[in-house]
Amino acid sequence: MEQGVFDLTIKSLFEKNGPDDEDFEAVLEFVNQLEPDEVDKFREAMKPILNPSTLIGFSFTKPFGYNGDFFIIEKIYQKYANPNPKYKKWDEFIHRLPVAIAVVNRKKLAKEILADLNKNSNGEPKSVLILGSGPVTEVNEYLIETPGNNLVFDMIDLDQRAIDYAKNKNKAFLKFLNFEKRNVIRYVPEKSYDLIWSAGLFDYFKDKHFVYLIKKFYQHVNTGGEMIIGNFGVQNPSRKIMEILADWFLYHRSEEELIGFAKQAGIHPTQVEILKEPLGINLFLRTRK
Ligand SMILES: C[S@@+](CC[C@H](N)C(=O)[O-])C[C@H]1O[C@@H](n2cnc3c(N)ncnc32)[C@H](O)[C@@H]1O
Repeated sequence: MEQGVFDLTIKSLFEKNGPDDEDFEAVLEFVNQLEPDEVDKFREAMKPILNPSTLIGFSFTKPFGYNGDFFIIEKIYQKYANPNPKYKKWDEFIHRLPVAIAVVNRKKLAKEILADLNKNSNGEPKSVLILGSGPVTEVNEYLIETPGNNLVFDMIDLDQRAIDYAKNKNKAFLKFLNFEKRNVIRYVPEKSYDLIWSAGLFDYFKDKHFVYLIKKFYQHVNTGGEMIIGNFGVQNPSRKIMEILADWFLYHRSEEELIGFAKQAGIHPTQVEILKEPLGINLFLRTRK
């Protein structure tokens, strides 16, 4: 990119404290046009906002040591924007990205799956295991909306801060919730479940770990139950901006790859399907038993 265009674009964005709504497409195009050797220069120019005061900067600087912590996911759910005018428009920009909308969509999908399981429970208790449970916002909203809840939940997360946050958020519902600070790679459930759900976790795992994990956890699905595992699809239009500005790298996977993983894990093809949230960015491998 021509140096003059680069400098002018950055200068005008900072002069107005971040992109306005009408700049959204132009900023995306600018980032998508960057060549690999321009990434460092771009990040240097963006330094004033690449700090934990913005959502992008929080992801970039990783105060909790990794991307995709419960805190940033919760801020995306809440559509949080820092009120400081230096940062506000940058946070609002993030919430307009298809990837952020897809994250909010997947919470809605989770709530629908939980509501269906509860509806079909005929008043009998049903068990749910959530892997990489994070802020536990989908369950919180489901419980608020479901006075006749019959579901009981085991929540697995390796970050104690996520567990503390989720427990506090779900104070009113702790009788339905059991939290375990565990790494899903090593964790072996002591029982079987009617539903095993995971979103925002398996995209961090290599293929061989993905297959190992679904094979292990599928053994803990009750007959008549199901396991639903989320993964970003290869069609994610926000991938480049996530990687460049937020330093957020994930394994993006196609529907065929996910179905192939189920096959490698020995799950019969008739038991396998792909679910998507409305934007088709978050895919879900659904396996029934
Ligand atoms: C991106 S968040 C998703 C949270 C939640 N599932 C949601 O969709 O709102 C990922 C969560 O997985 C947790 N996590 C990451 N690696 C893990 C592992 N190996 N075992 C257990 N939890 C893990 C993180 O601490 C974080 O809370």
